Formats: sequence, C-alpha cells, structure tokens
Amino acid sequence: MKKCFLFFLVVNIVHSVLSQENDGLALTPPMGWNSWNKFGCNVDETIIKEMAEAMVNSGMRDAGYEFIVIDDCWQIGRDSLGNIIPDSERFPSGMKALGDYIHSLGLKFGIYSCAGSKTCQGRPGSRGYQFQDARTYAEWGVDYLKYDWCYNEGQNAEAAYKTMSDALKATGRPIVFSICEWGDNEPWKWGKGIGHLWRTTADIRDCFQCQFDWGGLGVMDIIDRQAELYPYAGPGHWNDPDMLEVGNGGMTYTEYKTHFSMWAMLAAPLMAGNDLRNMDRQTREILTNLDVISINQDELGQQARRFMDMGDYEIWAKPLTKGEVAVCFLNRSSEVWKLAYNWKQHTMYFVKDVNLHKYQYKIWDCWKHEYIGTTNEKLSADIPPHGVLLVRLKK
Ligand code: GLA
Repeated sequence: MKKCFLFFLVVNIVHSVLSQENDGLALTPPMGWNSWNKFGCNVDETIIKEMAEAMVNSGMRDAGYEFIVIDDCWQIGRDSLGNIIPDSERFPSGMKALGDYIHSLGLKFGIYSCAGSKTCQGRPGSRGYQFQDARTYAEWGVDYLKYDWCYNEGQNAEAAYKTMSDALKATGRPIVFSICEWGDNEPWKWGKGIGHLWRTTADIRDCFQCQFDWGGLGVMDIIDRQAELYPYAGPGHWNDPDMLEVGNGGMTYTEYKTHFSMWAMLAAPLMAGNDLRNMDRQTREILTNLDVISINQDELGQQARRFMDMGDYEIWAKPLTKGEVAVCFLNRSSEVWKLAYNWKQHTMYFVKDVNLHKYQYKIWDCWKHEYIGTTNEKLSADIPPHGVLLVRLKK
C-alpha cells in the first residue's frame, strides 16, 4: 500500500514538473515562418503551401527552420456547436489537409488565435471556446499556437493565457504556445510554464530606427527593450522581440544583417516574415547563415547582455556551450566605427567559462566565415554605419 502511494506520488511530481516547467518543447528558440509581416490578412492555402515548399527548397529547413505559422484571418466564424470555421474560400481543402501537407514536407504547422472575443482583425477569438478550439487545433495536427491579446475585455492576462495553456495541455498533443500580449503585463515574470515564448513589445516595423504613435517599433527600439530581460530567457521559455523583417525591403543589406545578428544574440525566436518564394541572394544568405543561427540555437539558451554601452557603440556578449562566447559589436550611428578593441581590458564578468586573461581564443567572424585574429591581439575593424561585427571566440 505504502509502495503504491509512493509510486503515485513520484508519478504526480514528475508529471507536474514536466507539464508546468519542462515539457521538452522549444528547448532552443523556435524557428520558422509566419504570414503576418508580409501578407497581413491576405493569406490562403496556396500561399501557405508554396511557403512551406520554399522553406525546403531554399535550404531554410536544413538550416533549422521548422514552423509554418498562419497568422490572423484564416478563421471566418463559428458553427451552431461553436466550432471554429476556417474561411473556405481561402482554405478550400481545410486545415487538416493543410497541416498534413506541411507535415509531409518534414515541417510543423502553426496557427493563430486570440484570448479576446475577437482577433486583432475582428475574426472570432477564443474567449469562451478555449478548450474546444484547442481540441480542434489538435485534430488538425497543429504544433504551434500564437495567441494574441486584442478585444481582451479587461481579462487578467496571466489567467487568460493559463486557460489556453491548460487547454492545449489537455489535448495531449505537444503544442508550442506563443504568448502575444506585447509585453503589456510583463509576461516574462509569469509566462514560464504557461507559454514557451512571449512577445515583449509592440509590433515590429520594417525599419532600423523608427517609432509609431500606435506603438510600432523599429529594430533598434525593440533591441533597447530587450536589454534588461536577459534573466528571463532560457530553454523552453524565451523573450520574443517579434518576427523578422529580413527581406521585406524596408532596410539595407547591412541593417538586415544587424537585425538578424541581434535576434540571434538575444536568443529570440527566428520567425522569418518575408516571401520565401522569391528571395534574393542576400536575403537567403542572411536567413541561412549557420554561423549566426548556431549562436541563436546554442543549447545553453542564454540571452546576450549589453555589457558595454557607449551611446552609439555597444558591445553585447552571449555565453555559449563548450566555453565559447559570441560577441557582437553594434554600430548604431551613421558613421563608420573604427574599432580598436583590447580583449584584456574589459572583463565579461558574466561569461563564467571564458577567461581572456588566462587563455588565448581564436576570433571567428560569423559573416565573413573566417578567423580574423586572436584575443591576444587588439581587434581592429571598420564597422559600417548601422552594422555589426559578430564574432565567436573559440578555444
Ligand atoms: C497583433 C500582433 C501581430 C499580428 C496581428 C494580427 O498586432 O501583435 O503580430 O498577429 O495582431 O492581426
């Protein structure tokens, strides 16, 4: 009897630990594609299928991208039983068939809903239908849910996201849960165990430095809002500074490299937001840069810290496994940064396994893909306006 009790106790403890904190999902930042930044409400099954095919053909799947996420506007109403109905003109084959197709390409299927009564585009939200919707998603083979916060009608955010989290867990299907309440209720303080990632800001705009009255932010302003959030990121629970704009035309090649480099440093989810079917060489080069992606996907799961802030010039460091570290020199100014950096002069006190005084490290340039010196010498480089020098120190 006693043994039996102990057994159930252990099973229960293991179950609650697994289901709350560590369900084994998103142990590194999720990578994929989302329809919103490029297509907005203009989504249909042809676009989604072609994007999945392009993810494979462009080499992005092999580089680690896996989720194909349909954002807002796929849903059109509810039937008499309250079941959510996809727009049958835009998705004539239905969501199950679309999910099957995405899976047949070795990818995963993501969808969008909202904790409010309506989505941000006025489509039916999940409020009052959380468990029913979660069951429907699981039947369709959904692997990822982005859950928004429009028309929330004064709900408590933590409770609202917990309800959908419980609903997803109750389906028994592993579903990555992306909290999207724009950082309004400091989700980094309560999101771990409820979701696997949480948006930290208003929506990204396709610009380097810009702010909009309604809350849209450019890349630099988003980065500034991540700097203090590093304690909250780790395997299974990530700060999400929003989806990528790489390839959407609003920034220069240099700026997009900076955007991608910094998202990698921030251990941010890498959700491409461009048209994957007709990428130019530079866009593809950025999105499939394995030296940068491996920094983002490092198993330690640490978010970079801005350990030197000199106004227009910043230095960020991200501890990596195997006693390595990624360092990003960020030039926010519109002039060239003539860098002359002495590795021994500044201690990255939080990078425990790296000792620049004791050991010499080789410096790997993650955009040139070559060694550019060692930490025993001064690092000299011209960093272009709005550009980065992103390096990995290797033993
Ligand atoms: C909000 C989200 C965006 C996108 C739109 C869709 O603005 O923050 O990422 O999902 O809604 O309507």
